[in-house]
Amino acid sequence: MVWIAREGFFLNMRSMNNWRSIGYGTVLFALLARVALAATATIDVDVDKPGVNVPPIFYGLMTEEINHSYDGGLFAELIQNRTFQDSKPKEAPQSDLPIHWFLVQEGSGAAKVTLDKQEPVTPALPISLRLELAGGKAGVANDGYWGIPIRPDTKYTATFYAKAGGDFAGPVSAAIVTDDGKSVAEASTAAIDKKWQKYSVVLTTGHDAPTTSKAKFVLSASGRGSVSFSLVSLFPPTYQDTPNGLRADLMKLMADMHPAFIRLPGGNYVEGSTFATRFNWKQMIGPAEQRPGHMGCWGYRSSDGFGMPEYLLWCKQLGAEPVLALFAGYVLNHDHVDAGSPEMAQYTQEALEEIEYVSGAPDSEWGKRRAQDGLAEPFKLHYVEIGNEDWFDRSGSYDGRFTQMFDAIRAKYPDLKIIATAPVKSRTPDLYDDHYYRSAAQMSSDWTHYDPDRTGRSTFAGGHHEGGADRNSPKIFVGEWATREGSPTPNLTAALADAAWLMGLERNSDLANMECYAPLFVNVSPAEPSLGYPKAWQWGTDLIGYDAMVAYGSPSYYVQMMYGQNKGDRILPTNFNVEKTAAAASAPAPHGAIGVGSWHTQVEYKDISVTSPDGQELLKPDLTGNASAWQTAGGDWQVSDGALKPSGDGETWAITGKPEWTDYTLKLKARKTGGAEGFLILWHATNSDNYRWWNVGGWGNTKTQCEVAVDNQRTQYGPSSRFTVKTDQWYDLRLEVKGDRVRCFVDDKLVTDAADPNTLTGPTFFASASYVSDSHDVILKVVNMAKDPVDATINLKGAANVQSSGTVTVLTGNPKDVNSIEAPTKVAPQTQPLNDAAGSFHRSFAPYSLTLIRVRAGS
Ligand code: AHR
Repeated sequence: MVWIAREGFFLNMRSMNNWRSIGYGTVLFALLARVALAATATIDVDVDKPGVNVPPIFYGLMTEEINHSYDGGLFAELIQNRTFQDSKPKEAPQSDLPIHWFLVQEGSGAAKVTLDKQEPVTPALPISLRLELAGGKAGVANDGYWGIPIRPDTKYTATFYAKAGGDFAGPVSAAIVTDDGKSVAEASTAAIDKKWQKYSVVLTTGHDAPTTSKAKFVLSASGRGSVSFSLVSLFPPTYQDTPNGLRADLMKLMADMHPAFIRLPGGNYVEGSTFATRFNWKQMIGPAEQRPGHMGCWGYRSSDGFGMPEYLLWCKQLGAEPVLALFAGYVLNHDHVDAGSPEMAQYTQEALEEIEYVSGAPDSEWGKRRAQDGLAEPFKLHYVEIGNEDWFDRSGSYDGRFTQMFDAIRAKYPDLKIIATAPVKSRTPDLYDDHYYRSAAQMSSDWTHYDPDRTGRSTFAGGHHEGGADRNSPKIFVGEWATREGSPTPNLTAALADAAWLMGLERNSDLANMECYAPLFVNVSPAEPSLGYPKAWQWGTDLIGYDAMVAYGSPSYYVQMMYGQNKGDRILPTNFNVEKTAAAASAPAPHGAIGVGSWHTQVEYKDISVTSPDGQELLKPDLTGNASAWQTAGGDWQVSDGALKPSGDGETWAITGKPEWTDYTLKLKARKTGGAEGFLILWHATNSDNYRWWNVGGWGNTKTQCEVAVDNQRTQYGPSSRFTVKTDQWYDLRLEVKGDRVRCFVDDKLVTDAADPNTLTGPTFFASASYVSDSHDVILKVVNMAKDPVDATINLKGAANVQSSGTVTVLTGNPKDVNSIEAPTKVAPQTQPLNDAAGSFHRSFAPYSLTLIRVRAGS
């Protein structure tokens, strides 16, 4: 796609062709190519006036089982549905086999598979798979988590329970076989016993084995009779070679972030969808054959092979401490138990025991269980969190539930800091957990959120506190946040907004003591419709992506990594000012033409008019002829009976007017004659991919809300109204457009009043600094989100002995750039030596960049 710009006014060439049809083609030829002009800035860092202390615990990770974070993610297990309990999606082909399992037969081999509930290995593994052999060689194959990853010269450990039935008395063969039928590693057990026994074999790939995930794990046997299997497992080499351990590439990415804590196990996952499927930690300890698994809250079952010991192993191997989220009697279906109830007593007791499991001495009741799980040393535990996002509980029960758990924990563990997830009155929590999921414009422009001079600190709305004035109230744990642009992993724009927002948090870490981005992981594997497999992920913006073979950090990951590797312990007050370029200073106000549309709905529009704020008529389309004055997208439109109508039944819209219009009033009459939804009314359309619209009776005619489309990606914004559209009724619609704000009326009644927070109209340049007392390093972070470079003079005020050499690390690219399986490090930081540092020095900050300068200043 080619872009031509004049003073920041972008037009999309593909759509320009369409625009010619409505008479604006000449605009194109008047446009000038943009010349990159640098803005200038001064950045003053008060090196001799260190401010706020940054707590060592400040940077952490947030985690839960979402997007196949553990099963098919961090937990290195390669077999999906290893206990045959996963349910089969209705889209999957009909078969007697459990999902992810296949029957394989060799030559004349014949067999069938049945699922057996008699004589399970343990009560936690109620189902076993029986392979009934009818002569020859046959077996079952598992296709793993979107493939079994194989590499040359690699050892894989396979374990499973098996027992022989009938005449079968032979060994079982375990093999890794590529999808083109080549066995790349194979080993056999001893003869299988008639009683359940655990078998273990090592499979080693050769030097010439391929590197691919197009492979399956096969268990096979020859002869007659039957062989039953349970808890089938295959592990590749793991991080630090730990049995039952963690995926090495993901651990390496996280180790590079230097996290101080891990908030676990959620998130929604700690709550569960129902009481029966809550995070029940006692079912997630001990050997794998004692763990029944459970239905997670993100649409798939968790094997719970990754349970409490594995969470703690993760903490241990990263040198991070757990921040333990405790189930607190509220579940996602909005059910709760009340304080004082027997259930709440049980959950409170379980929470105390969970704390002991994590931090108790090895001779305490639950500390002993942890030691039996291979983790003798107690874990440092300073923070526990009561519940998750309990502001969703509209019953008002949180205050009581919190109080009950708070009192019990405080009595037994007086030094623990206790985090609340929603406002409480009866007790004073040590911290509140604030959550933010926002657009880049919202996130970056709110980088002053917790500044001391912001007001309204006590207000809690939308999952977080507003403002930062009162330093004497409980501290803040920003326990979930993300800039949500790019999917399934964020793009560079999102990362730069993250970087600005994080500066604001760090600068205010006397109040906002801790932070962690969420979600951490996403398995990005696509759906496999032929097998009925859904795509592996549920949530759009995630820090680290992977499939079976490759793991990569998103641009947002690199921001966290750069900050985590460059932690100052004191904030240095930093002031800056930027002189914008002429082009940036004259950036146009929101602008664009008008339009109408429909989504699987028969609609008609008439009496359309556009007037300027001073009452002048800008447009009154002629609805007596044809629709040729309208630029259409997605379908044809026609004019009949004085009304404009789409001729098809799909998603379509039609635009007219001038792209340079800014503020105006659009009036029209609209009628629905059939179909699923209501009306789409467009304004500020600069082409068919970039517009705002009022979706009246959208979402199956359930609500009315504004949406903005940027490069054909739509996001909802502003309040949602319950207004819905009746069939065969004419409505008078009116939109009053002023800047980013629109007021939308139906029959003269205001239905929607919304300002678009998604346009980057706030600051685009950000700087902050900190100091490392031990090394005397000054760390300066600068974000430039604009399209022009910024030439800055940096003054390290009051700094003694500034060394000329240092380092400069830059993360930059195109704003929409993402990393991916195919291009895992397209956006990645580059570090270079800096040779001209001084008390005052110059530096040019690239467009769309985060720069981190590290210089020594002091003896
Ligand atoms: O991070 C994804 C989800 O967002 C978390 O599970 C939940 O706490 C929040 O709503």
